[in-house]
Amino acid sequence: MPTTPEELEQIADAPHAEADDLAGTFALQGNPAPRPQAELDEILQKPGFGVHFADYMARATWTADAGWHDKQIVPYGPLSLDPAGAVLHYGQEVFEGLKAYVHDDGSLWTFRPAYNAARLNFSNYRLAIPELPVDDFLASIVDVVRANARWVPAKEGASLYLRPYIFASEAFLGVRAAAKYEYLCIASPAGPYFPNGFTPINVWVEQDFHRAGPGGMGAVKTGGNYAASLLPKVTAAREHYDEVLFLDAATNTNLDEFGGMNVFVVYADGRVRTPRLTGNILPGNTRSCIMQLLRRRGVDVAEDTLALADVIAGIKSGEVSEMFACGTAAVVTAVGSLTGADFKVELPTHEVSQSVYDELTGIQAGKVDDEFGWLYRIG
Ligand code: COI
Repeated sequence: MPTTPEELEQIADAPHAEADDLAGTFALQGNPAPRPQAELDEILQKPGFGVHFADYMARATWTADAGWHDKQIVPYGPLSLDPAGAVLHYGQEVFEGLKAYVHDDGSLWTFRPAYNAARLNFSNYRLAIPELPVDDFLASIVDVVRANARWVPAKEGASLYLRPYIFASEAFLGVRAAAKYEYLCIASPAGPYFPNGFTPINVWVEQDFHRAGPGGMGAVKTGGNYAASLLPKVTAAREHYDEVLFLDAATNTNLDEFGGMNVFVVYADGRVRTPRLTGNILPGNTRSCIMQLLRRRGVDVAEDTLALADVIAGIKSGEVSEMFACGTAAVVTAVGSLTGADFKVELPTHEVSQSVYDELTGIQAGKVDDEFGWLYRIG
């Protein structure tokens, strides 16, 4: 299983099986009650984020004797889980996020899915969960998107958000890696992640709590990291902040990441920096692609240690011109202000953030040349 961010890049960029060769790996079961078309049309006009769920989901089970088996596309609906199911007690769970798009000619696509397949296994490794083969991951994406094709919104800026995840389902209360796991992939039509769209977000810089610490799970996509971000988020939301920026747990001085997104800092001299992957920071697919897009433009972009004090001083002096958040769900969202216990600074400019958003979403929508070969055709 991949254990370094470099391996995620290698797996993402290697050749992979095509959709037609993988299709049908997850056997389609009929849905007796698909969403009526008129209701669906209304949902697709204003999908929001993560509130409506498509007719079908992918599922599979892992046991030691049979490995991953029982791969199916089934109607979306409640799961049956033993109250002693290990995930409910010890949080042995990992997840991913990626999106499907429909292009103007009606073709269906997703974006660099092998990166997500590799990162799921990167997370699986850290949580002692069995590996899901890349081809099974890709097949589940192909099969779930094909089954839910009418749920992929055609509206500009919208997509079908895919949420693959694995959790420990063995009924057992001892603290050890479970002997049974479930894989699922659900699908949800998505508009902008933040309700105000590209409107710059107001950020609270958290200096009392951390989302992850050295040797912990900060680099992998597991629910616990997001759970750790919620109390600061609730407190910040009371003061009308849109998002929380976390500092590194070791020194409480350097930028780590937002509650669920990576961070970039843009300087007035044109250079762009993002925190280096210290082991506490999620190696974001969007983060990786943005660095590659900026490098192709000839921008000096690099990973670095970014001290909060330097960033604040840079914003005050004009040396820092922009900051933005990025992730699959949020794509690219400009930061309008940063506030902490004893400071508040504003970032009025968002040109680079906007141009990165335009280029990335243009590639995803099939309107800008996909020079890197990131698009993967589903159907
Ligand atoms: C994503 O960007 O896909 C995530 O999983 C993060 C979450 C904030 C939705």
